[in-house]
Formats: sequence, C-alpha cells, structure tokens
Amino acid sequence: MKLTKMFRVSAAALGCLLALISCRQGPDAASGPLAPVDVKVVNHLVAVLGHESRVLELVDPASGEKVKSVRLAQPPNGMAVDGATAYVAEGGARGVVEVVDLESGALKRSFPAGHTPMSPVVRGEKLYVACRFDSRVLEMDAAAGTVLNSWNVPREPVALAVSPDGRKIWAAGHLPAGAADGDFTAAALTLVEDGKAVHFPLSNGTQGVRGMAISPDGRYLAVAHVLSRYQAPTTQLDRGWMNTNAVTVIDTEEPDKPHPVLLDDPDAGAANPWGVSFSGDGGTLFVTHAGTHELSVIDFPALLERIKREDRSNEPVSERLGFLHGLRTRIALPLNGPRAVASDGKNVYVAGYFSDSLAEVSLKDACKSRAIPLNVPFRPSREKLGERYFNDASHCFQGWQSCATCHPDGRVDGLNWDLLNDGMGNPKNTRTMFLSHRTSPVMTLGVRASAEVAVTAGF
Ligand code: HEC
Repeated sequence: MKLTKMFRVSAAALGCLLALISCRQGPDAASGPLAPVDVKVVNHLVAVLGHESRVLELVDPASGEKVKSVRLAQPPNGMAVDGATAYVAEGGARGVVEVVDLESGALKRSFPAGHTPMSPVVRGEKLYVACRFDSRVLEMDAAAGTVLNSWNVPREPVALAVSPDGRKIWAAGHLPAGAADGDFTAAALTLVEDGKAVHFPLSNGTQGVRGMAISPDGRYLAVAHVLSRYQAPTTQLDRGWMNTNAVTVIDTEEPDKPHPVLLDDPDAGAANPWGVSFSGDGGTLFVTHAGTHELSVIDFPALLERIKREDRSNEPVSERLGFLHGLRTRIALPLNGPRAVASDGKNVYVAGYFSDSLAEVSLKDACKSRAIPLNVPFRPSREKLGERYFNDASHCFQGWQSCATCHPDGRVDGLNWDLLNDGMGNPKNTRTMFLSHRTSPVMTLGVRASAEVAVTAGF
C-alpha cells in the first residue's frame, strides 16, 4: 500500500516535471527568441525559420496567424522550398538537412550535411549546400541525401546560387582568406562548372558577405557585403571613410569583373547589407540593411544601364556614394535587424532577426510597410539586447557601421585596421569577441583594461 502511494506520488512528480520540460521545449514557448533567419513565400503563406526557437513556421500574412509550426532538430540556418517540400539546412559542427512536407508538417528525411550548412538550393534532383566552417560546397542527391560531389572554396561560404539549367554553381565566401597586410585582400566568389572550381576575388576590402541572388535568367549575380576602406587610418566616418556598404553586380559571363555598387547615400550609410533577392521578372533587386533596418528596392535594368554608361576607370562605381540616386527606393522598416527577404511580386517580406517580426512592404502601394509580429510576449534578455546593440548601426554617426561591421557574428572581418587607441601607423588584425571578456587586458597591445572597458570606449 505504502509503496503504491509512493509510486503514485513520484509518478505525479515526474509527470509535472515532464510537463514543465516539454512546455519549455514546445515550439510555441513564449519565453525565448525566435530570431528569424530565413523567409520564403509559399502560395499565400510566408514560411519563416526561427534560428533560436528551432522552428519552421507558416504564417498567414493577412491575419498574422501561425498556420503551422514544425519543430526542427537543430537551429536552422536557411531553407530551399521546392513545391510543397522545404529543405532546411541546420546546425553547427554536425549539421543536417531536414526535409519537411509543408502540407502535412511532417518530417520526411534527415541527412548529414557538414559543418554549419547554409543557403541550400535545389535544382532538379540535386541539392546544394554551403558548409560554412568546412569551407566546402556539397552536391547531394536531393532524395537520398548521398553526397555526389564536393568542392573546396575559400573562407566560409555562406551563400549559394545555381544557374537555372544547373550547369553553373556559384558560392560566395564570407571573409577574405589572404594576408591582411598587403595591398589587396577580399572575400571570393567560386564558380563550379563541368566539375571544376575556379575562384574570383571580389573587390579589395570586400568582407562580411551575407547574401547572394541570381537573376531569374541566370545572367547576373548580386552579392551583399561590406566594402571596407581598411587601408585608411580610422580618423573619421564621414562619407564612408572607414566602411561602405555594397551590392556587387556580376555578369556571369565576366566573373572576373565585379561591379561593387555603393548602397550608401553621401550623408547616410546603409550599414550591413544582408539579404538579397530578385523579383520573379528580374526587374527589381531587393537588398536588406541589417544595421540600419531598411530595405532597398532597386530598378535592376536601369542599374545595369547606368553601370555600363558610367563606369570610368578614373572614377570607379565603387567610389561613388549616391550612385543609385533615382534608381532606388530606400525604405525604413518597422522592425530590427532585417536579414532575409522574399517577394511574391505584390509584396516583399523581410524578417527582423532581433524584433522577431516580419515587415510586409507593398510594391503596389508606394512601398507602404506593415509590421507582422511573430512572438508578441517575448522580451529580450540583457545578453540578447547586447547582441542587438552590437549589430545596430543606428547607434553610429549617420548609420555608417555597427560593431558587427568589423566583428561579424562577434568574430573577425579578416582585415587589418589602424585603430587610434594605441597610436597611429600600427595596423593590426581585428580580434574576436570569443573569450575576450575572460582575457583581460584586451587589444593586441593590452591598451584596454578589459573587454567591458573596450566596449564602453568603442561605443
Ligand atoms: C573598424 C573596424 C572595427 C569596428 C567598427 C569595431 N571594432 Fe572592435 N576591434 C577592431 C580591431 C582591429 C581590434 C583589434 C585592435 C588591437 O588589437 O589593437 C578590435 C578589438 C576589439 C576588442 C578587444 C578584443 C580582445 O580580446 O582583444 C573588443 C572588446 C572590441 N573590439 C569591441 C568592439 C565593439 C563593442 C565595437 C562597437 C562599438 C567594435 N569593437 C567596433 C576593429 C573594429
């Protein structure tokens, strides 16, 4: 009798505990951030990937309601949608691709996909992923997940694009791979064609590459990144003296001739370009600005025309602030940290990484925008707020840069900078934030007593 009672009590206690755990882990748990990293339009719904909540959500933008919520095995990094199937690239060191049926919400398959798989693309029977920290691109059988081919690429591929006929695979590296103390260093683009990989450096100072899109006809690429003026002493910010923000346009027939176009206006930086996408007809290019919380809507044919007409060797496009004047609508978004972007031709949907919300921008109605909250009761922790400020260029003079401009993901940009805190004329590598708070004093010469002092001084 006593034993049965004890059993009952402990079973009840266990039940409570399990309920507590499962409700903490549930996809609808309101306690944590969603941190949306990718967005796609699926018929009349918007598919959103929550990196921290580990969910794929289907949202009805009209009502803001969540139609479906699919729990994922690991934090997702990006997805490709092919009909009613989503291929979600997830996780870090032991990354996977999970295949999700969007109609039923069922998980169909899961297969290993290298270290931090990103930017999946499906072409026919094949699936491609960029394994960021393996510095490798995988070609897989989309149905079975077997690896058919793989190619090494320079430092940290984060974005992929495949031509419509599947013959050209493009990968964009996040960071420069070379020495930072010479005359030239830049992140690179890789082209895989006929099984061979060829690498093309982007323009000098290209770093913090985040997104890449291919025009629907496969002719042009657009790559979003920071264009750093790392060789100049860091004495001012005015007119992009230290960092400018660019989208590089590449004619795929001349991949060795990148055309970096500045997204900044002479008196207003457009910090941290991130997501990039073409409209279905190729007429419009969308670029998000994660640091200034904006969207650029660019007339793409007119941009090509202007590049052709005005690219003079004595005055390259990459040096001309305001180059987009008259070709671009610059829209302040009602969210924080816009990264991913997608469009259905009528509206553009942008996901706010720090605000846990979407913005819907109407292309028919003068680019009017509307906020769609995704995680209403969520209040960020102090740590999350810190991360948000670190990425927020609206704390900087004219929005030219954020801390994350030189420390993308709290890490490094692969460049040398001549900061002034230890005198001029001694440029040094950017340092990571990893364990910085445990290794006082900080900076190469130890000129700041601690990371706390460095952060305060930096701001
Ligand atoms: C222009 C590029 C640039 C920007 C913008 C920038 N940093 Fe840095 N940061 C550097 C470089 C370069 C170093 C290494 C300097 C050295 O070793 O003397 C560094 C070092 C640091 C360190 C010391 C790391 C260590 O352990 O030694 C901290 C902390 C830091 N930065 C925080 C910040 C914060 C916070 C911001 C935003 C307010 C910021 N940085 C913006 C380039 C930058």
